[in-house]
Parts: sequence; C-alpha cells; structure tokens
Amino acid sequence: MPLQIIDHGSIQHQQMVELRFQMLRKPLGLTFTKEDLEAEKNDMLIGFFDDGKLEGCCILTKKDAKTVKLRQMAVLSGLQGKGIGRVLMTFAENIARDRGFRKINMHARKTAVGFYEKLGYSISGPEFEEVTIPHFEMEKEL
Ligand SMILES: CC(C)(COP(=O)(O)OP(=O)(O)OC[C@H]1O[C@@H](n2cnc3c(N)ncnc32)[C@H](O)[C@@H]1OP(=O)(O)O)[C@@H](O)C(=O)NCCC(=O)NCCS
Repeated sequence: MPLQIIDHGSIQHQQMVELRFQMLRKPLGLTFTKEDLEAEKNDMLIGFFDDGKLEGCCILTKKDAKTVKLRQMAVLSGLQGKGIGRVLMTFAENIARDRGFRKINMHARKTAVGFYEKLGYSISGPEFEEVTIPHFEMEKEL
C-alpha cells in the first residue's frame, strides 16, 4: 500500500519533514522550528511511498468537531503531474470522512488553486499573504 499514516517522531516523519522543507520552505528561504514540528503531534500525517521512498505527503489538523484543515501538501518536483497529489487527497478525504469530519479547508497557494479546484474545492475568501506568497482559503464538504 503506497499510502500510509505516519507516526510523529518516526523515521518516516523525518523523511516527510525533509520533503516538506525541500518543496515548501527552502524555495522561500524558510525553515521549520522545533515548535512547528512539536505542534503537529496530534495531526494526521499522511505519506505516499514507492518502495520505501517518500514521494508525496500532506497533513490533516483538526479544527473543530466537523472540520479538518489540510496542510503541507507536497509532491517531489520530478514526480508532479503523475496523479500522486490526487491519490493523496482522496486518501486524506477518506480518512477525514471515516473519522467523522464533514469539511476540509485549507490555505491554498495561489499557484495550486487549479489543482484543488479539479478535486472539488472552492475558494471561500479573499486573497491573502502567508509564508511570503499569495494564498486563498478553500474548502470542500465531504
Ligand atoms: C500541487 C501539487 C501537490 C499537486 O500534486 P501532483 O501530484 O502534481 O498533482 P496530480 O498529478 O495528482 O494532478 C491532479 C490534477 O490537477 C492538475 N494540477 C496539478 N497541479 C496543478 C496546478 N498547480 N494548477 C492547476 N492544475 C494542477 C493536474 O494537471 C491534474 O489534472 P488532470 O486530472 O485533469 O490531469 C504538486 O504539484 C506540488 O507539490 N506542488 C508544489 C508544492 C505546492 O504548491 N503544494 C501545495 C501547497 S498549498
């Protein structure tokens, strides 16, 4: 099964942090702090693996009884556009649904809005800046 829930603090979690750093933070000149990583202790950490190698990931964070926030969605640069992101999102949605959540929302990078729209997400607010780049809040009822 290429899709796995990752344990916080495991080797897979370290792999995940490295992928997220390379794909999401390093290009913006940013890093993760110890506190950032500690704060995801109770999150659902999701990875897409091929032969033990992590190729994509995302995180679900509980916001309230009905809503989870999708965060840190990333696929390795050489492997984008091959369907890994879609598979990760479907898996994340199934997990959220199984755990009783009814809505997923996110802060989507402007460059990724088209990806989420293809998967049924809608923009729900005005453009804003986060981690130095433009974002939109997006959401989908499960
Ligand atoms: C955005 C990202 C997660 C998408 O993952 P992916 O594996 O490349 O996406 P998929 O191959 O599963 O694409 C699914 C569909 O969305 C489309 N799509 C993918 N990225 C897109 C984008 N940035 N804009 C518009 N459409 C996009 C694909 O063409 C595909 O369409 P199709 O089904 O009609 O062929 C990935 O490109 C990525 O990691 N980007 C850099 C980091 C990033 O921006 N993360 C999101 C932070 S909010």
